[in-house]
Amino acid sequence: MSLENPQRYTVTAALIYANGPIHIGHLAGCYLPADVYVRYLRATGKDVAFISGTDEHGVPITIKAKKEGVTPQEVVDKYYTQIKKSFEDFGISFDIYSRTSKPKHHEVSQQIFKKLYDDGNFVEEISEQYFDETAGQFLADRYIVGVCPVCGNENAYGDQCERCGSTLSPTELKEPLRSMLSGAKPVLKPTKNWYLPLDRMQPGIQQFIDGHPEWKTNVAGQCRSWLQEGLRPRAMTRDLEWGVKVPLPDTEGKVLYVWFDAPIGYITFTQEWAEEQGRDWELYWKDRDTKLVHFIGKDNIVFHCIIFPAMLMAEGTYILPDNVPANEFMNLEGDKISTSRNWAVWLHEYLEEMPGKEDVLRYVLAANAPETKDSEFTWKDFQGRNNSELVGVFGNFVNRAMVLTQKFCGGHVPTCTDLTDVDRQVLDELALFPERIGGAIENYRFREALGHLMDLARLGNKYLAETEPWKVVKTDENRAHTILNIALQITTNLAIVCEPFLPFTAAKMRDMLNFDAIGLNETGWINAGRPDILATGHQLGEPALLFEKLEDEVINKQIQKLHDAKKMNELATKAVPEAKPEITYDDFAKMDIRIGTILEAERVPKSDKLLKLKVDDGHGQRQILSGIAKHFAPEDLIGKQVTFLANLAPRKMMGLESQGMILMAEDRDGSLALLPPHKPVWNGGTVS
Ligand code: 2FM
Ligand code: ZN
Repeated sequence: MSLENPQRYTVTAALIYANGPIHIGHLAGCYLPADVYVRYLRATGKDVAFISGTDEHGVPITIKAKKEGVTPQEVVDKYYTQIKKSFEDFGISFDIYSRTSKPKHHEVSQQIFKKLYDDGNFVEEISEQYFDETAGQFLADRYIVGVCPVCGNENAYGDQCERCGSTLSPTELKEPLRSMLSGAKPVLKPTKNWYLPLDRMQPGIQQFIDGHPEWKTNVAGQCRSWLQEGLRPRAMTRDLEWGVKVPLPDTEGKVLYVWFDAPIGYITFTQEWAEEQGRDWELYWKDRDTKLVHFIGKDNIVFHCIIFPAMLMAEGTYILPDNVPANEFMNLEGDKISTSRNWAVWLHEYLEEMPGKEDVLRYVLAANAPETKDSEFTWKDFQGRNNSELVGVFGNFVNRAMVLTQKFCGGHVPTCTDLTDVDRQVLDELALFPERIGGAIENYRFREALGHLMDLARLGNKYLAETEPWKVVKTDENRAHTILNIALQITTNLAIVCEPFLPFTAAKMRDMLNFDAIGLNETGWINAGRPDILATGHQLGEPALLFEKLEDEVINKQIQKLHDAKKMNELATKAVPEAKPEITYDDFAKMDIRIGTILEAERVPKSDKLLKLKVDDGHGQRQILSGIAKHFAPEDLIGKQVTFLANLAPRKMMGLESQGMILMAEDRDGSLALLPPHKPVWNGGTVS
């Protein structure tokens, strides 16, 4: 069961591998919901530690380093800085964003490993692992390449076939096997590792999972399926160089399994933060009244729901997660987001191109969050939601309330007198929103919470449309003032309850409403729902536009950019065509290849491919038809020297005879290039 009414929270967000920049899928799947949750908790006065950082060990890092020809440390230094900045830019309000390569983290991970070891929680086992004799090291699964047993792909990795998506283990790969490090054939060699006996621990884990029927169905489903299959012992050490060294004698060349040390990062970073703050870190990890919540993406479920809790149970002094509200994945424009295919919207690029629009992205991602199933981001939807919801509903209401007050009341909160039924109804409704929004957030239903938030803005719009203060003011000033007072109280409420989702907008609204003067800040949720937060006479700040309309041009540019990037990537990974079968010199010598000059060029009527060329071949002129009309404008060819095959048997195309063939080079992107000699030569000159 979940903790009732906790006052202290430890909230973690997955430690992403520091091997690349972050994209909208990361934000939507994990970090944005975590931030909304934490901001809400802080606004309601809870004591929260919001912990995250980068995962800087593991094979993904070493693979990236190898690809870029740099050290793993250089890779993680570069991406830690970039990732941290992206999160800051989008207002993800971590209390600490640290890294697992810090010595402190190595120490804490080793301490926990050693305690589990000393308490007899590991099983030592010698197993045969693949070893690269040329490189002199054991190979991580990812470093072994062989034939996929499912689809026959000759380049399948030891952990996964990227062609058919099958999850594999190296021993399932078919021959020939090769090491990605040296190309040598790996050999099996015995090695000792320490295993967490999850099989023996299954009853305890089962009890823990069964105790949380309230977990999201996507999370519970994955846990059930792992438990039904039966848990198997899992090695907590690996034969690798990069990582946290195993704190036992005679373990040279062995490190802790990255999934052992990474979640311990949450603990290390809490300690680091608590030290800086002069707090007691143990309250956040060992006090049973603290609620521990892990925000992650769906690929991390087993590690946070089964393996890490098993480690903590074995350690014995820690609390276990109260909830693991994992999200599914967000797709992009109809396709899976893919770093390797460059099919992504990168956060650092978004802000360069859309400065000041942090909250627009936060809004669209939250409205579309993959909470229960995969969802989809499209730029058109982004535009639509910005224009009709943020500009048309939220911004419109706030702007009208502010501008009308400016105009009719000189920017002071007017008096509220004699409430009508409509007023009472609207205020009764208003009072319900904070709990509606907060309740949905507490239950990890962020889309629903955002829907309620927008409904509050709609309520404001409807109220203004019904009461029309701009007309009433001409006949009944007191009545108009009452309406504007109520509209401003709704605006003030919006400023408070929108903060978890739209912190940049909330900050602007706090300025506009001059919260400073009444001592209201981000933690003001306690006031939400009240009809009298702003006192009569309170001086407002200047109205400012919160959102602006996005034109088609801006959106189409983003769509085009995405497609261009994908194309570039496809081109970069396009293979050079396979070699043709060998020929003899005699075969080659049969071809009469010569240089000529194009004298005339014109399109062949009714053909979109063919150009009719007149070529000076040294003897006279010959007509050559060439299928290059899509690549060249006829006028650009005139006067150009070209290489052509002179003794190709004449052929008829579209009723015209072609006497030879112009030779062309095809570029990676399919475009064509002429082959002129590198200095002008006489027409009819032979090529050999
Ligand atoms: O999937 C990933 O990017 C992992 N590095 C997440 C680790 S989360 C936690 F265990 F630290
Ligand atoms: Zn396959």
